[in-house]
Amino acid sequence: MAILSATDIVKYFTEPVRFQVLRGISLSVEKGEFVSIVGKSGCGKSTLLYVLSTLDTDYEGTLVIADTLLTGRDQEFLARFRGEHIGFIFQFHFLLQEFTILDNVMLPALKLGKEPQATIHTRAMDLLHRMGIAEYAHRPAKQLSGGQQQRAAIARALINQPTMVIGDEPTGNLDSENTAIVLDLLEAICHEMGQTVVIVTHDTEVAARSDRILTMADGKIVGEHRTR
Ligand SMILES: Nc1ncnc2c1ncn2[C@@H]1O[C@H](COP(=O)(O)OP(=O)(O)O)[C@@H](O)[C@H]1O
Ligand SMILES: [Mg+2]
Repeated sequence: MAILSATDIVKYFTEPVRFQVLRGISLSVEKGEFVSIVGKSGCGKSTLLYVLSTLDTDYEGTLVIADTLLTGRDQEFLARFRGEHIGFIFQFHFLLQEFTILDNVMLPALKLGKEPQATIHTRAMDLLHRMGIAEYAHRPAKQLSGGQQQRAAIARALINQPTMVIGDEPTGNLDSENTAIVLDLLEAICHEMGQTVVIVTHDTEVAARSDRILTMADGKIVGEHRTR
């Protein structure tokens, strides 16, 4: 069953000159699948992720996630949809620096307002344990290292148990030990929880841990490789 299907995605940037950054991308991702996207810098990977995560609505083509047509929806609908279904791990984490790590992780779930605070607290602490940063839960984000903040940002992306996790170089700031921890967790949420992960990476070892590797070049998908 496809949880995500994107059809003929085309996108132009107009500044400084008009150019076509995405040149007819179609892709389908199964529920429970872990997909990685690789390709040279500048080929359009981040741009594609912004479209797939509904943050960018300025494109042609259609996007369907979890049986919901997302193309043409208004911002309010999309914000609500993202809160429930999409966890996005940005290339540069944007933790609220004055807030504690725990508050940062709990915030998206408190915003959604579907569960009691105690339930959210328990799940947030569990994620922080898995990420190896539980001891920093009550510290303000600004006191943590870049790698620790990155792991907190990953915990935050997972707090609502999103249908899809979309990550742009989610392990980019991490050493090999912490990269392994994050990959174990991403693999587990796919294969045990039936969540779905799509990440961009330039690390071939990270890509090799996914189920399927898509290669992009010049705004197109030019290759596909199943690892299992
Ligand atoms: N907001 C923007 N306006 C104009 N050009 C952009 C913008 N964002 C990215 N680009 C250009 O689009 C191309 C693809 O960018 P990007 O998706 O970030 O590539 P990747 O993530 O694969 O490195 C690059 O040539 C980049 O310079
Ligand atoms: Mg990029």
